[in-house]
Amino acid sequence: MRVLVTGGAGYIGSTAVAELLARGYEVSVLDDCSSGHEDAVPSGATFIHGSLLDPASVQRAIAGCQGVIHFAAKSLVGESVLKPELYHEVNVGGTRILLSEMRKAGITKLVFSSTAATYGEPEAIPITEDSSTNPTSPYGSTKLEVDRMITEAAKSGIAAISLRYFNVAGALQSEGGWLAERHDPETHLIPNLLRASVESPLNIFGDDWPTQDGTCIRDYIHVVDLIDAHIAALEKLEMSKHLIINLGSGSGYSVMEVIRAASKVLGREIPSKITARRAGDPAILIADISKAKTILGWSPLRSIEQMVSDTWESQNAANRS
Ligand code: UFG
Repeated sequence: MRVLVTGGAGYIGSTAVAELLARGYEVSVLDDCSSGHEDAVPSGATFIHGSLLDPASVQRAIAGCQGVIHFAAKSLVGESVLKPELYHEVNVGGTRILLSEMRKAGITKLVFSSTAATYGEPEAIPITEDSSTNPTSPYGSTKLEVDRMITEAAKSGIAAISLRYFNVAGALQSEGGWLAERHDPETHLIPNLLRASVESPLNIFGDDWPTQDGTCIRDYIHVVDLIDAHIAALEKLEMSKHLIINLGSGSGYSVMEVIRAASKVLGREIPSKITARRAGDPAILIADISKAKTILGWSPLRSIEQMVSDTWESQNAANRS
């Protein structure tokens, strides 16, 4: 089976490409490299440098494929607040073109990269797929709109699963080397805390949240566990059905707990200081992952310590090259 991976030059997309190739799939990648890196695309894949917004590029990339894993998107919450039209155009408009080209090419299998940001501020913890969806950013709204668009598409033959990610971390060491998270700017906690130094300590965004130690709680999932779930989803797709499934570990860690885990892994203190709360951060996000376990027959295997140590190794490898 040949799979089109949109956004396959990005952090999560390139990890998917490597894992698909390792399991014997053939892979085509479509990426405009606006945030991804061409050198991250594993060498066994066919790479098409092009935009999701260009139907001709999508047609070229989709030719000969039997399924699609769709990662390509604008994905920075803060930027989405400043540029909502851009997020709408790329995330919603791009998926509309993809669905239309899938239909023309007779391709019915789709796995979509959705997000916990579709839920917004949760009413209850853990968050199930039936929780209400009240996104607090244009990023979350556009992903929710795409989920709804896919539900409509499934009524006329598409088989689809939307996977709603919580906090993705860690890295894969593939045959070609580490596939590191290379965001610019980097906003995520684990890469940021690994870069912290005495001169430039990690900013902890608030210690007055309604949690045990006052810092925000998140549900971290290793990128390799996340991709294993995508491949399981691809293999479980059912015609004319659209399923929505959360992907996390099912456990929460506070910012302080992540810092402690990282200190243990690195064998040194992580310099940090408390700063103001970051606008838009919910206090606690933890996934209910029972649907993923039941439907996909999947369970996350990798610990927070492994997420830290793989991120560390991958960043060191990236710095050396
Ligand atoms: N944090 C810090 N200091 C930092 C970075 C983060 O204290 O330098 C804190 C944040 O306040 C938050 C936690 O660490 O409490 C995790 O923050 P991240 O930026 O790593 O991740 P988010 O939870 O903000 O974002 C994740 C995904 C997004 C998704 C969002 C939905 O990465 O793609 O959840 O809420 F949109």
